[in-house]
Amino acid sequence: MTTERNPGVGSHACAAPVLDGTEVIHVDCVSHVYPDGSIGIHDMCFKVKADEIVALCGPNGSGKSTLIEHLNGLLFPSQGRVVFHGAAVERPVGSDLWREVGVVFQRSDDQLFAPTVLDDVMFGPLNMGLSPEEARREALAALHDVGAADLAQKMPHYLSAGQKRLVAIAGVFAMHPKVIALDEPTSDLDPLHAETIERLIRELRSVHHISIVISTHDLDFAARIADRVCIVKSGSIIAEGPPAEIFYDRDLLQEAALKQPLLVQLYEEFCRVSGIRTEGKPLSIQEVTREVRSQITQKPPGND
Ligand SMILES: Nc1ncnc2c1ncn2[C@@H]1O[C@H](COP(=O)(O)OP(=O)(O)O)[C@@H](O)[C@H]1O
Ligand SMILES: [Mg+2]
Repeated sequence: MTTERNPGVGSHACAAPVLDGTEVIHVDCVSHVYPDGSIGIHDMCFKVKADEIVALCGPNGSGKSTLIEHLNGLLFPSQGRVVFHGAAVERPVGSDLWREVGVVFQRSDDQLFAPTVLDDVMFGPLNMGLSPEEARREALAALHDVGAADLAQKMPHYLSAGQKRLVAIAGVFAMHPKVIALDEPTSDLDPLHAETIERLIRELRSVHHISIVISTHDLDFAARIADRVCIVKSGSIIAEGPPAEIFYDRDLLQEAALKQPLLVQLYEEFCRVSGIRTEGKPLSIQEVTREVRSQITQKPPGND
C-alpha cells in the first residue's frame, strides 16, 4: 500500500464503492452542511475495513468529528451516502447504525449521564432490547474487559478524565459493535492514561476484532497505532496510506498544517547531520533505535 492522493477533492469524483468483502463502512462522497451554513465536510470519501485501525489526522476544524458522527448516523449527509456492509444507510434506518458502530466522544461528559457507571454502561444494551439482568451482565463484562470493573458503582461525574474515557469505551463496547470510532481519545489525558487507552484500543482490534477509527492530531500516537492513515484537510481526505509513507512525507503534512511525528523529525535530523542516506522509515522508539544502531555499526571506524 502506497500513499494515495485524492484527485477527486472538490470535483465530486468519488469512485463507486468497491465491495470486496473486507469493507465495513464506505463514506461515499459525503458532504455535510450544518444548519448555519458551515461546511463540516465535503466530497469526503472514506472506508473502514474489517479488523483495522485507521487514523484520521487533521488540524482543528478539518472535519474529523463531523465525519465520525456520520459513521453511526448521528449526522446524515447533505450529499452523498454512507454504506454499511454494502447497504446504503437510509435516513429512517440510519438511526439503527448505533448498534453496529459505537462512537466515543471527545468530551466524555457529552457521553456519560447516568447516576452510576453501571447504569451508564447498561444504557446501550437496554436500548438494544436486552432484559435488565442481561444488560447488567453485559455491562459488568464490558467494564471488566476495559479494566474498569472497580468503577461500577461510582458516579461518572466524579471520575478522572482517564476513568471517564474507559467508562465511555465500555458503554459502546457493551453493545458488541463492529466498529468503534474514538474522537481524539487521548488528547485530554496524561501520558500514563493515554498509554492505557492506547493499549485498550489495540486489544479491541486484536482480541475482539472490532475495526477502529481514531481521530487525532497527535501524529506520534497515530504513527504507533494505525494501520492506515487518512490526512484530513478542509473537510476532505487529501491523502491516505500506511503510516510510514504518510509521516515521512513532509510536504504533504505541511500542506495539511500538520507537523511530522517528533520521532520522525528526530530520525530525519539524525540522518541529515550524520550524512546518512537511508530507505528506512522507522516510526516507534524500537524501530528508530534499530535503524540508528544499524547505521552506526555500518559506519567504518574513525570516519566521524
Ligand atoms: N454544530 C456545528 N455547527 C456549525 N458548524 C460546525 C458544527 N460543528 C462543526 N462545525 C464546523 O465544521 C467544520 C469541521 O469541524 P469539526 O468536524 O468539528 O472538525 P475537527 O473535528 O477536525 O476539529 C469546522 O469549520 C467547524 O466550525
Ligand atoms: Mg473534532
